[in-house]
Amino acid sequence: MKGIILAGGLGRRLGQLTRITNKHLLPIYNRPMIYYPLQTLVNAGIKDIMIVTGGNNAGDFLRLLDNGREFGLKDINYAYQQGEKGIADALSLAEHFADGEKIVVVLGDNIIEKPIKKYLESFSSQSEGARILIKKVPDPQRFGVVKLKGRKIVSIKEKPRKPESNYIVTGIYMYDNRVFDIIRTLKPSKRGELEITDVNNAYLKRGQLYYNILDGFWSDCGLPETIYKATTFIRNKCLRQERRK
Ligand code: G1P
Repeated sequence: MKGIILAGGLGRRLGQLTRITNKHLLPIYNRPMIYYPLQTLVNAGIKDIMIVTGGNNAGDFLRLLDNGREFGLKDINYAYQQGEKGIADALSLAEHFADGEKIVVVLGDNIIEKPIKKYLESFSSQSEGARILIKKVPDPQRFGVVKLKGRKIVSIKEKPRKPESNYIVTGIYMYDNRVFDIIRTLKPSKRGELEITDVNNAYLKRGQLYYNILDGFWSDCGLPETIYKATTFIRNKCLRQERRK
């Protein structure tokens, strides 16, 4: 399985913080944000990794991460997304890299506590389709909201004004190679982007969307408030580790 980190976008909701740099290079306690999703993939045993980024600071990722030596990697692949065309558009740039294999996709601003290896194993034993990780949150209207009936997903709606549940789709997605054909069929949403929620709904329609509930801490870092939340979590974790030494 190959790993893809999506680290483009303009980070508009962060105001001045992203005026001169990419969101994923901002600090989360003692490391740049991009380190966390990269470590998540490496800890899950993924060795083939591509980072998709864009904007004026794309070169900074190379300077920061080079070939991923710090993470024990042999190399890192990079792709450049032109413009601001959404998560699914960014993912489409990884088609050549995926080369027919299954993929795990992590949004570059998603910080999680627990390993994801067990979910990747479930996905590996799945013959086809997709698998998403969902989570109960207090503010679902900011995300892709999952409506469940019993244990079945019945719909996913992107940032609904009136969410029908507190379960949301986190930025960790597993797809078979059909994902690239699905992306080719998508139309831009109202915000002018190719939405990852439309990809997930396409799998749902085919009866091929599976899920797990992600345990442990999870946060995105799209707002000053969530950067603070993630930073506090990482700081406490580091302090606990220091105390144990
Ligand atoms: C994106 C997805 C959304 C998902 C979220 C997780 O939102 O569109 O469905 O719940 O990531 O972090 P965005 O960060 O682009 O607003």
